[in-house]
Amino acid sequence: MKSPIRVTVTGAAGQIGYSLLFRLAAGDAFGPEQPIILQMLEIPPAMQALKGVAMELEDCAFPLLHDMVLTDDPAVAFRDTNWALLVGAKPRGKGQERSDLIRDNGPIFVGQGRAINENAAPDVRVLVVGNPANTNCLIAMSNAPDVPKERFAAMTRLDHNRAVNQVAKKAGVHVTDVQRIAIWGNHSATQVPDLNHALIRGEPAPQVIGDETWVRDTFIPTVQQRGKAVIEMRGHSSAASAANAIIDHVRSLALGTPEGDWVSMAVPSELGEYGVPEGIIFSYPVTCRDGHYSVVNGLEHPDYIGEMIEVTTQELLRERAVVEDLLGSRP
Ligand code: NAD
Ligand code: LMR
Repeated sequence: MKSPIRVTVTGAAGQIGYSLLFRLAAGDAFGPEQPIILQMLEIPPAMQALKGVAMELEDCAFPLLHDMVLTDDPAVAFRDTNWALLVGAKPRGKGQERSDLIRDNGPIFVGQGRAINENAAPDVRVLVVGNPANTNCLIAMSNAPDVPKERFAAMTRLDHNRAVNQVAKKAGVHVTDVQRIAIWGNHSATQVPDLNHALIRGEPAPQVIGDETWVRDTFIPTVQQRGKAVIEMRGHSSAASAANAIIDHVRSLALGTPEGDWVSMAVPSELGEYGVPEGIIFSYPVTCRDGHYSVVNGLEHPDYIGEMIEVTTQELLRERAVVEDLLGSRP
């Protein structure tokens, strides 16, 4: 048995936390040989609920769960942590956009970025889920100047999984028959779900589907608006599917992506890939190996995808301007 790794979950008593913690403890993210210590952060009013969740975790007698830390102190939650999963933040309600949360949630990621910088393990990897995820990730990263930028990501895996499902349903195949879907840009209504490079049973998806009107008028808006559609039906934002996407994201990064396929992650646009300016957190197709990701380079876009990428880029630049005062001193 390997020695345990430390996994921090913020907002651990929330809706997503209630699915996520049990799947982490069951070994779904890191595999059946990797024990974990769960370090769970909450705000003081939610500490009692968190204790209840911890009781349930105990009652599962998970063989891989070696210890638990319950705290309302970010310094304790991030101490020596290897994986920081930043979920804790307000969700949007009906009629809101995710960016409406920016001034409420943004400040959370200033303190947590600093606490990660001061306390986390040297190999820490950070995934931001709390919305608006891309810009919150930028805030956390800019307040953690000693942690390499490539360790930060925001979650677009839920959008990726949603896109895979829509394509599989349309083509009448199983989700495992669909590869190389891409989500570009912001985890927002401007995101760019892209099937132009996708394969269905190894054949080019646009040809297999053969219905460009469906791609533009149904596929893209359905994926872009899926979070809102869930809120309208459920009365709360997606939680179990979000937790599942966190597990998928972490597993891809920790254990690698399959040969010939890729996944979507929002990562720092450091290299100016695809003409995106530096200094925002932008979703790209990536491959992962040995705990690191590489952006898939050299894909050619049809004009309409290029135009959509410009729109989502401009939105991210506007979000960045709104939180300029929360960005740390990192160059
Ligand atoms: P929730 O309200 O059920 O839970 C959030 C939890 O965070 C609460 O228990 C709250 O006490 C806690 N919290 C608030 N501030 C905190 C802080 N400073 N430190 C630690 N904990 C804090 O919400 P949820 O449904 O679990 O969603 C959490 C966030 O994830 C929301 O912002 C939601 O919009 C976002 N989300 C993102 C995606 C994505 O794909 N990126 C998907 C689903 C949800
Ligand atoms: C989602 O995509 O389901 C989440 O970001 C929650 C939301 O506000 O839509």
